[in-house]
Amino acid sequence: MSDAHPIQAVPLAILQNASKSYGSAAYPVHALQAVTTEIHDGEFIALCGPSGSGKSTLLNLVAGIDEPTEGKVFLLGQDLAMLNDRQMAALRADAIGFVFQFFNLLPVLSVFDNVYYPLMLNGFRRSEAREHVMHIIEKVGLIDHYRRPPGELSGGQQQRVAIARALVKKPRLVVADEPTGNLDTRTGEEIIDLLLTMNHELKTTFIISTHSPLLRDRARRVVHIEDGRIKDDFVNAK
Ligand SMILES: Nc1ncnc2c1ncn2[C@@H]1O[C@H](COP(=O)(O)OP(=O)(O)OP(=O)(O)O)[C@@H](O)[C@H]1O
Ligand SMILES: [Mg+2]
Repeated sequence: MSDAHPIQAVPLAILQNASKSYGSAAYPVHALQAVTTEIHDGEFIALCGPSGSGKSTLLNLVAGIDEPTEGKVFLLGQDLAMLNDRQMAALRADAIGFVFQFFNLLPVLSVFDNVYYPLMLNGFRRSEAREHVMHIIEKVGLIDHYRRPPGELSGGQQQRVAIARALVKKPRLVVADEPTGNLDTRTGEEIIDLLLTMNHELKTTFIISTHSPLLRDRARRVVHIEDGRIKDDFVNAK
């Protein structure tokens, strides 16, 4: 007999009444205020809102970089508050890729080694990882530059390296904090194209904080946050 209960898809990430406050009891800063939302497999989410509205704070909670002062965060069905530091680090390393505004590449390493780096930390030998690393470098359009150090590349090319590094371990979720914030409009547009392509081809889920109207318009789902609260959450018409 078949199971009467269909398997429910567990959301990739859940924030449940998650709040984050900084500062002292006398002068608290409520960066995030009782936010409840879910991120599902395959989504491409633009997280929009003014400076100081809580975008980076929300991303840091989702990624387990930071803990909520109240409420809960679940990643892959696991309550992050129940994990010790080692378990948290392992889950994060396994499930999440990061992309930042200022690329955060290792300047003394080549493009290849920057992308290989997360695999090296997992104990993969260069020779074992080579084919996969080159495949990702090719996907982000940098095959001609794989031997060069990031300092010899343009901003857009450096962000491509960072995206390749974020994707190399095939994470379920990529968290990107203003990935086009340091790029000119046209280069930013190319990076948006690349992120959308990766979402489509690799089925990687993306949540991306941004001030870019273009990214907001091209994202499938838009979450708008103001003063630490979700003010709007909608799906763009195709
Ligand atoms: N480590 C911290 N200590 C104290 N206050 C903080 C800290 N991090 C963030 N805040 C405060 O929390 C609020 C939300 O900050 P957050 O960085 O999440 O905003 P944001 O939406 O990412 O802004 P931006 O668009 O400028 O990056 C702000 O008032 C900020 O000053
Ligand atoms: Mg921010």
